[in-house]
Amino acid sequence: MLTNEMRKELIQTAVEAWRKAYAPYSEYAVGAALRTDSGTIYKGVNVENAVYPLTICAERVAVFKAVSEGEMTFSAIAVVTKNGGTPCGACRQVLAEFGLETVVLIANLGGELVLETTVGDLLPHAFGDADLEAGRG
Ligand code: THU
Repeated sequence: MLTNEMRKELIQTAVEAWRKAYAPYSEYAVGAALRTDSGTIYKGVNVENAVYPLTICAERVAVFKAVSEGEMTFSAIAVVTKNGGTPCGACRQVLAEFGLETVVLIANLGGELVLETTVGDLLPHAFGDADLEAGRG
């Protein structure tokens, strides 16, 4: 159960993360904060590269940090940008791997919630392990 206090904390943590984004090329900074079912919060920022395609999004950094610490069930992720942009398709797919129920809080730099949704709503008909299993051979 995600309380309003948890929402606020998660968005605030994503705002803090935002300041550490490394985005010298696009100048589009993104901060993310991912809350696991254990209550731990993992931060992420976008990390760009002079070889542009090597860039990684804030959401995936947060997910990979959590998974690399053995945490794979997430209650919510907050994503903060100046304009309240939504996660890209690649990040939706990576989040879907770990559950369609994860709540997605989209907020702006002022900490205002712009949109509350779920990974499942952001990625209808998501491809998953069941599709792989069914289509093998
Ligand atoms: N970006 C993210 O970090 N998350 C998203 O979901 C959208 C895009 C980053 C990647 C790149 O560093 C910059 O925003 C512009 O695309």
